[in-house]
Amino acid sequence: MQMLINNLTVLKHPVISHNLAIIRNKNTDCENFKNAIKKITYALILEASKDIPLIEAEIETPLVKTKVKVFDKNSQLILAPILRAGMVFCEVASEMLPFANIHHIGMYRNEETLEPVWYYDKKKEIIENKEKEKVIILDPMLATGNSAKDAIDNFIKKGIKEENITFMCLISAPVGVKKINSCFPKVKIITSCLDEALNSKGYIVPGLGDAGDRIYNTIE
Ligand code: URA
Repeated sequence: MQMLINNLTVLKHPVISHNLAIIRNKNTDCENFKNAIKKITYALILEASKDIPLIEAEIETPLVKTKVKVFDKNSQLILAPILRAGMVFCEVASEMLPFANIHHIGMYRNEETLEPVWYYDKKKEIIENKEKEKVIILDPMLATGNSAKDAIDNFIKKGIKEENITFMCLISAPVGVKKINSCFPKVKIITSCLDEALNSKGYIVPGLGDAGDRIYNTIE
């Protein structure tokens, strides 16, 4: 079951709720934190990729020949994890969509201004049919929306159409959702939860803390 508000999809499922409870709990260790994220990622990536085109093929079952639908290996799909926390989505996403190109986006948040600072932008250059290219941006937390806005803007400047961009996150805050919505009304947002607000440091509340620190066990 899912709830749709404009371009926002909040996926609802008991498996998601259970695993959200695990990742929110400050006592969950790094291993269980990552495992719970993976379980939610399977659901989110299925939703985020539900419109990718398929082609017909003919195969033989042990009994007969039959027509089937399979991935079009020439489909143009980019999975774009925002480093470093976005990498946790990437393993599951590329397992399920193995033909996708991976475009790593390196940015971190300036803790004073809460603005993103870029340090990496790696992508295979597409020469033809840019208008057909689909992009799924992967970042566990949609907080202020500043990094998300920059990442989306970067793809639009490269010629990707707004309606072909999806932003996938575990937890979103209303301010981030509104920012994407007002700047890019055609961009789809897929999340497993819409939380209440941000605190004064730009962290999502109730949230789960710093996603990167909890995934990579770098909490000080
Ligand atoms: N990034 C995080 O890792 N957590 C938040 O709550 C907000 C941004």
